[in-house]
Amino acid sequence: MKALVLYYSNSSHTAYVGSVIAKTLGIEFEAIRVQEPYGDTIMDRSKVELEKKNYPALIPLTHHLEDYDVIILGTPTWWVAPSSPIYSFIESKALANKTVYPFITTGFDVTGVEDKLKELLEKNGSKVKPALIISFTNAFMDNSESDIVDFAKKITNK
Ligand SMILES: Cc1cc2nc3c(=O)[nH]c(=O)nc-3n(C[C@H](O)[C@H](O)[C@H](O)COP(=O)(O)O)c2cc1C
Repeated sequence: MKALVLYYSNSSHTAYVGSVIAKTLGIEFEAIRVQEPYGDTIMDRSKVELEKKNYPALIPLTHHLEDYDVIILGTPTWWVAPSSPIYSFIESKALANKTVYPFITTGFDVTGVEDKLKELLEKNGSKVKPALIISFTNAFMDNSESDIVDFAKKITNK
């Protein structure tokens, strides 16, 4: 089994969780990046992208996904859904035939987000495992770091 951590992160919470997972497992990670960064327009633009299913263009990854069979995939919650760059990424079929372990960060309402992500992944050919959900309030993580470490260790039974 060869695993890689991939995530989209706008304000570094999801990046932090991804880096703890990668460090725990001693594997590599890479950020999914949008061609046009959101900046101050994030609230309006993200809402329109998700409502109109008009997802943003991404910068190609440097890792070659054909080398990996397991992807640990992170997204923030946006408007009680996965973030729009994650929709772009999954709909590109980049994760078809891979086993995906999702992790989701949230600020206040994550109702149904895991199910939405699972449905999207399965529709695009992935096998999906249960997600890790990590909550942040005012930039502080509400979970303990051991929640992240435990999730990571279960992936490889390390
Ligand atoms: C556009 C936008 C919409 C958001 N919508 C939600 C939401 O519906 N529910 C929620 O729990 N948090 C929401 N949040 C908070 C983020 O999910 C949370 O802060 C997340 O950890 C940010 O991850 P990041 O720092 O990796 O970008 C939203 C944040 C943004 C920027």
